[in-house]
Amino acid sequence: MLNIGIVGLGDISQVHIHAIKYNSNAQLVAVCDVDPTYSDKIPNVHFYSNLEEMLRSEKLDCVHVCLPHYLHVWATKTCVEHGVHVLQEKPLANNAKEGMELIKLQHKYPNIKIGICFQNRYNDTFQTLKRIVKSKSYGNIIGIKGLVTWYRPESYYTKKLGAEK
Ligand SMILES: NC(=O)c1ccc[n+]([C@@H]2O[C@H](COP(=O)([O-])OP(=O)(O)OC[C@H]3O[C@@H](n4cnc5c(N)ncnc54)[C@H](O)[C@@H]3O)[C@@H](O)[C@H]2O)c1
Repeated sequence: MLNIGIVGLGDISQVHIHAIKYNSNAQLVAVCDVDPTYSDKIPNVHFYSNLEEMLRSEKLDCVHVCLPHYLHVWATKTCVEHGVHVLQEKPLANNAKEGMELIKLQHKYPNIKIGICFQNRYNDTFQTLKRIVKSKSYGNIIGIKGLVTWYRPESYYTKKLGAEK
C-alpha cells in the first residue's frame, strides 16, 4: 500500500483525491495547504500548512503536487530531496531554465520517480492527431499551430512568476 500526500488543495486536487480513493494500492494519509480553511476538509487525513513539515512528519511514498505553476519546481525538488516520489501537475515548469533544473534533479536521483500529469494526450483529439502525424498522410509534418479556446485570466499565467514560495 502506497502512502500518498497532496500539496495544494485547490480545484485540481479533487481529481487526485478521487483517483487515490479508487486505487486499491494507495491511500491518502496527509495533505498540505497554506490556506487554513482546508484543515478539516478531508476527514482522517493529517493536515499540514508547510510542505517540509509534512515530509518530515509522515512516511510518504509519493506526493501529488497540485500547486500553482510557479511552485511546481520548488515543491517537486523539496519532495525528491526528501526521498519521496512525485506526481506533479502540469506544466513541468514556468520556463525552460526551471524545466532543466527538474531534468537535472531526475538524473541526480534516478531512483526517485518524477511524473508529470499530461492526461490530455489521451483525449480523442490528440490521439487522432498523433495517428495523422505518424501515418505521414500529410507528408513529414514539421510544425502544427493549435488554438485552445478555454478562458484563463492574465493572472493565471503571470502571478508571482519566478517566485520561490
Ligand atoms: N491536468 C489538468 O488538466 C489540470 C487542470 C487544472 C489545473 N491543473 C494544474 O494544477 C495546478 C493547480 O491548479 P488549481 O486550479 O488546483 O489551482 P488552485 O489555485 O485552485 O489551487 C492551488 C492551491 O495551492 C495552495 N498553495 C499555494 N501556495 C502553497 C504553498 N506554498 N504550500 C501549500 N499550498 C499552497 C493554494 O492555497 C490553493 O489551495 C496548476 O499548475 C494547474 O496548471 C491541471
